[in-house]
Amino acid sequence: MKGGTPLVGEVTISGAKNAALGIIAAAIMTDEDVRLENIPDVNDINVMLDAIQGIGVTVDRVDPHTVVINGSNIFKATVDSAYIDKIRAGYYLLGALLGKYRHAEVAMPGGCAIGKRPIDQHIKGFRAMNADVDLDGGRVVVDAKDLIGGHIYLDMVSVGATINIMLAAALASGVTTIENAAKEPHVVDIANMLNAMGARIMGAGTDVIRITGVERLHGCEYTVIPDQIEAGTFMFAAAVTHGDIILNSVIPKHLESISSKLREMGCEVTELDDSVRVNGKASLRSCDVKTLPYPGFPTDMQPQICVGLSLASGSSVVTESIFENRFKYVDEVLKMGANIRVEGNVAFINGVESLKGASMKAPDLRAGAALVLAGLAANGFSTVGSIEYILRGYEHLERKLQELGAVIALVDTDEAAEAFKKEHSA
Ligand code: EPZ
Repeated sequence: MKGGTPLVGEVTISGAKNAALGIIAAAIMTDEDVRLENIPDVNDINVMLDAIQGIGVTVDRVDPHTVVINGSNIFKATVDSAYIDKIRAGYYLLGALLGKYRHAEVAMPGGCAIGKRPIDQHIKGFRAMNADVDLDGGRVVVDAKDLIGGHIYLDMVSVGATINIMLAAALASGVTTIENAAKEPHVVDIANMLNAMGARIMGAGTDVIRITGVERLHGCEYTVIPDQIEAGTFMFAAAVTHGDIILNSVIPKHLESISSKLREMGCEVTELDDSVRVNGKASLRSCDVKTLPYPGFPTDMQPQICVGLSLASGSSVVTESIFENRFKYVDEVLKMGANIRVEGNVAFINGVESLKGASMKAPDLRAGAALVLAGLAANGFSTVGSIEYILRGYEHLERKLQELGAVIALVDTDEAAEAFKKEHSA
């Protein structure tokens, strides 16, 4: 990519990857058809769909964003590690299969390497519902003769554990209460979808969720919410390139923590019914930020805001409070001339006037997107390698950026990168 062009125009935000992953798991809990709309066309979703096909689920991809799922022919409750190694959300199949069949075996989950990612809270939840849980040679095996509603206090706010427990509890007998539950928009979306299938879930979006188990779930049609993090990434694209972007198909309420930080940094953010406009024409100012569970500032936006703050006047302190190792990308931004010092889970940033293009490597999904933002803001040419991480969760990122005027292309060889440089050197 060649940096320095302000991004201007409109972009349509895709469906939320992390909501869709849980919703796909929920869809296999009935024997009837479930039709899902606004599914993002990204690799993590494709891996999840392959994983459920591997256990006998019928998956009809009607178009890139619509899928009809039928779980009536599931022939085993064991999900192969070939799928699960690649994605974190494979563990939602534990909750879904445990609820439906009272038995599930899933390989220990993979996902982005952003620190230790234990699943003790998921296990605690299943055990509180009377399930036996065994960690057997890299697999998690859960079994319950009777799956009975339980009372679970999560020791930390965990999105994954909240969703997994909700899935299993939807078909348990009796009432399950999750205290200190995650409140992320996708937790609410998955609860709404389960309720559309006949589940009885109350309180999603607050820190106490109460699930009254039902005997069976039925088919439904459901549209996934827009992706909060994709939207936030484009909002920061406007800020760092001093552009002006209207994001369509968003829920502005889900973006409040991001909008308010951008305002603090000097951007103009206008919220409309289902769109948000970010005008980043003014120069950026520093601010401090700490990642927190929703409605706090999302950890999945931490790399993007650090790139923004590295170009803001003054010094900023960014504290990562969710994951222990989420600053690996900083070395890459340093190559561009940024002034960032990381101590443990805190980044101290002194803003610089400009960044210079560099050759970088994406260490994970969100950091990969942040490096693309850095490249678009920098002087000169940059390349970001290991983009398979980015493709896991951003739908046609380069195409959407091109439509906003970015000088960017997907290249798969050094020669193609050189040709791109030559073409845009003038
Ligand atoms: C989800 O991960 C998302 N992934 C992550 O997005 C996101 O960063 C994260 O939530 C926080 O918002 C998916 O939805 C697939 P957690 P998850 O359980 O569920 C600790 C992306 O880029 N914890 O809320 O794995 C954990 O180590 C990805 O799209 C335990 O200690 O996150 C972390 O410190 C990256 N024990 C904290 O809780 C447990 O049993 C929050 O994790 C569970 C979690």
